[in-house]
Amino acid sequence: MNISGNTIFIPGATSGIGLALALELRAKGNTVIVGGRRAGLLREIAAEHPGIDTVELDTADAASIESAAKQVLARHPELNVLIAMAGIMRVEDWRDPASFLASAESIITTNVLGPIRLIAAFIEHLRARPDATIMTVSSGLAFAPLSATPSYNASKAAIHMLSESIRLQLAGTTVKVTELVPPSVRTALLPGQETSDVAMPLDAFITETVALLESQPDAKEIQVERVKFLRYGEARGDYDRVVDTLNAADPHGK
Ligand SMILES: NC(=O)c1ccc[n+]([C@@H]2O[C@H](COP(=O)([O-])OP(=O)(O)OC[C@H]3O[C@@H](n4cnc5c(N)ncnc54)[C@H](OP(=O)(O)O)[C@@H]3O)[C@@H](O)[C@H]2O)c1
Repeated sequence: MNISGNTIFIPGATSGIGLALALELRAKGNTVIVGGRRAGLLREIAAEHPGIDTVELDTADAASIESAAKQVLARHPELNVLIAMAGIMRVEDWRDPASFLASAESIITTNVLGPIRLIAAFIEHLRARPDATIMTVSSGLAFAPLSATPSYNASKAAIHMLSESIRLQLAGTTVKVTELVPPSVRTALLPGQETSDVAMPLDAFITETVALLESQPDAKEIQVERVKFLRYGEARGDYDRVVDTLNAADPHGK
């Protein structure tokens, strides 16, 4: 995507990577609409950042996505970029079904069905725009598993393959598909992650990400340097070492 002049909807931008990216993209000359469930945060964002529009939505709920899409498109008919950012991560113990089943269902609903339903709600509109982008958000954990978070890893692997597949179907249309592949970044995605030494500082991640978007407008994947250790383990032939190293450093243990 071009770095400026877009109208961008980011469901999942009340905090963390989504909010930081929303503010940076706004500063680069884009119209930005921020979405999420926490109405109080949406009000604060609108008050503190004039020019950013907000929409309340729950991406785990099909009706909420439909209603938010109607509102966004009515207010911003020039919308040309959807960034499907909303996601959740949970630690699970798969030795105990009582502890993981609800978590797994909720992760798949939010992290996989959410982006699928968002794309379904916006694809016809985006196809009618002269230059459009769907940005999906996977993770380094799509490519090497963190033992503590099986459903999350699987959800992000699904997003990777979905992105690869729909990019093929949309080739030759006006819609690009770009996959953002973050490494561990200091956000509130998991308890303790905001202060984790092994996670990348949020501002450094956003600066590198926006520089990549600027220098590689046609990139299939946006990969900061730090994620390449996880992303290319299999291609390099050191996948087992990557998995061992990743899990040795995991504060949540096995
Ligand atoms: N931080 C990392 O290390 C990392 C690494 C790889 C990938 N990612 C991905 O990056 C994305 C953003 O995560 P983050 O790290 O910035 O964590 P975060 O600060 O917890 O942000 C998650 C965002 O998703 C929204 N969200 C969650 N469930 C939602 C729902 N049902 N409906 C609408 N919005 C929902 C949250 O808003 P509300 O709570 O207001 O709804 C929030 O704005 C996620 O997809 C995550 O998997 C993060």
